[in-house]
Amino acid sequence: MDHFRNPRNMGEMKDADAIGEVGNPVCGDLMYIYIKVKEEGVTEVIDGISFQTFGCAAAIATSSMITELAKGKTLEEAAKITRDNIADSLDGLPPIKLHCSNLASDALRDAIKKYREKKK
Ligand code: FES
Repeated sequence: MDHFRNPRNMGEMKDADAIGEVGNPVCGDLMYIYIKVKEEGVTEVIDGISFQTFGCAAAIATSSMITELAKGKTLEEAAKITRDNIADSLDGLPPIKLHCSNLASDALRDAIKKYREKKK
């Protein structure tokens, strides 16, 4: 509820290096994850991250949490964040809302994929 009422890192990032986008066709919710990547030698680190979510309370809370979990991580580490990691960090989600945490991990992975495609 705290991450729903006081979401962290919410809002559009105008100078994002990549934008992940994912929607849930069942409920119609839509999520964008913006990332800014810093290159440290051969390592690519998430230096900035924000989100915009048009959806339910759980979708907003999981978006907020994934931005906190991914900040400062390498792209490899961030891509491994699972929906269970997000739910656990929120001290659990009601079973009916677990699917909402898929959106956050999928949107982040989509942003990382697009960043890598752009760099090629
Ligand atoms: Fe749609 Fe939560 S009900 S993501």
